Amino acid sequence: MFGKRTDIKPKSAPAGVSDTAAGDRDVAVKTSPPAPPPPAPAAETNMEPIGGDNARSEQYYQIKTSIFNALIDTVDLAQMAALETEAAREEIGDIVTEIIAVKSLVLSVSEQQRLITDICNDVLGYGPLEPLLARDDIADIMVNGAAQTFIEVGGKIEKAGIKFRDNAQLMNICQRIVSQVGRRVDEASPICDARLADGSRVNVIAPPLSIDGPSLTIRKFKKDKLKLSDLVNFGAISPAGATILEIIGAVRCNVIISGGTGSGKTTLLNSLSAFAANDERIITCEDTAELQLQQPHVVRLETRPPNLEGAGEITMRDLVKNCLRMRPERIIVGEVRGPEAFDLLQAMNTGHDGSMGTLHANTPREAISRIESMITMGGFSLPAKTIREMIVSAVDVVVQAQRLRDGSRRIISVSEIIGMEGDVVISQEALSYEVLGENANGKLVGIHKPGEAGIPKFMEKARYYGLGDKLAEAVEQLNEVYEREKPKLLAQIVR
Ligand SMILES: Nc1ncnc2c1ncn2[C@@H]1O[C@H](COP(=O)(O)OP(=O)(O)OP(=O)(O)O)[C@@H](O)[C@H]1O
Ligand SMILES: [Mg+2]
Repeated sequence: MFGKRTDIKPKSAPAGVSDTAAGDRDVAVKTSPPAPPPPAPAAETNMEPIGGDNARSEQYYQIKTSIFNALIDTVDLAQMAALETEAAREEIGDIVTEIIAVKSLVLSVSEQQRLITDICNDVLGYGPLEPLLARDDIADIMVNGAAQTFIEVGGKIEKAGIKFRDNAQLMNICQRIVSQVGRRVDEASPICDARLADGSRVNVIAPPLSIDGPSLTIRKFKKDKLKLSDLVNFGAISPAGATILEIIGAVRCNVIISGGTGSGKTTLLNSLSAFAANDERIITCEDTAELQLQQPHVVRLETRPPNLEGAGEITMRDLVKNCLRMRPERIIVGEVRGPEAFDLLQAMNTGHDGSMGTLHANTPREAISRIESMITMGGFSLPAKTIREMIVSAVDVVVQAQRLRDGSRRIISVSEIIGMEGDVVISQEALSYEVLGENANGKLVGIHKPGEAGIPKFMEKARYYGLGDKLAEAVEQLNEVYEREKPKLLAQIVR
């Protein structure tokens, strides 16, 4: 059915292809250089088991490369990629089976199946990344050049056991990913943000900037975004703490979610914004759209990088400024990283209550100084005190997320900004997380404890929204549980 498909002869089977083209669906077979000599038959016939999903042997990669090259020499992959996925997979499966027969490779049925799946993934999808992309338990995929890939599972980073044929194949896959959102990555523009079709967030940084080959980072998209109730189930927040957060979201407190990288900020932003009322007009601004708001009236905006000529960039600041002309009720900024901090504070200060944003900082206090320095570095010549006053009147609550050393993610503090004393911003904790120690399984044991001030300042807002009693009950419950459970937890501590 494909013009190029001919009788498969062992002689032509391992035809070489240019490294850059290998594995790319746009490969035009006619551009292949002359075939190098076929690999030594010994390597093909005396095949040892080729390993499970996490451990493909060197021999496996050699065999795969030789079959892949034969396949490229046999069919027009560009046409193949244009087929329906299922039909293309079937076709590739048939041809690979033929190649295996012609080359007299000895493979078990399951090995052959695995090989076919891998080759299909190379031709039609994202190659070695496919099995990782298919796994729901992976939070991040981090590819550091062709030979090394790490994944984050359950809060811990581990080796993925996959590798790419070479950096050229990896670069091709990166190219394929970013071209789907109309971007490109190459030596001239080696940094690129993109998104997979399933919504996963992607960053590529290519040589010469990344020294050991392209570096690809994927934050896997969770189809079912974690809700506050899931965070309770994971122990990230206690049930009473979750009620307090729910009230913070519902009564339109202005919130900054602070935390280290991968600490769960976006997840928290998503779950907090879920408590916005259905009749509110919400505008979200993100670098790569990750939020999944369920409300009916949401406008989603995304920044745009400059084009090759360096023109056409739309920054986060542009978006946030524009938002203000869109009659928003709440503005949600995925990640505050620069001068848009000023515009977000302006929005918070001008009646867009319930606005939220995340930023990278390790403590609530650091979050405040980060905002201050982002504004200062943005070229606003305002005295430090004025900026702090602005922060105090804009931000109601800072929620701090953290990934603890055992891999668990916790909400470690909910702080209210209550005012200024002289030049200093004063905050008080509504709740915090106390790490008690480590249990016999090496897991950290801790408990959410109430803040010293008792009733939070946003009680006023809660009352206004008819949630005063609910807040008072939650605070009481937080106290009760802390007193009751702490001694039991302390009994579990081994060090
Ligand atoms: N409390 C939690 N328990 C378990 N997993 C969580 C928790 N919070 C978030 N996650 C998972 O951790 C990963 C990172 O979360 P998220 O994207 O929210 O982090 P982030 O702080 O926004 O990261 P970044 O700094 O890269 O933007 C996601 O896969 C998310 O589903
Ligand atoms: Mg994030």
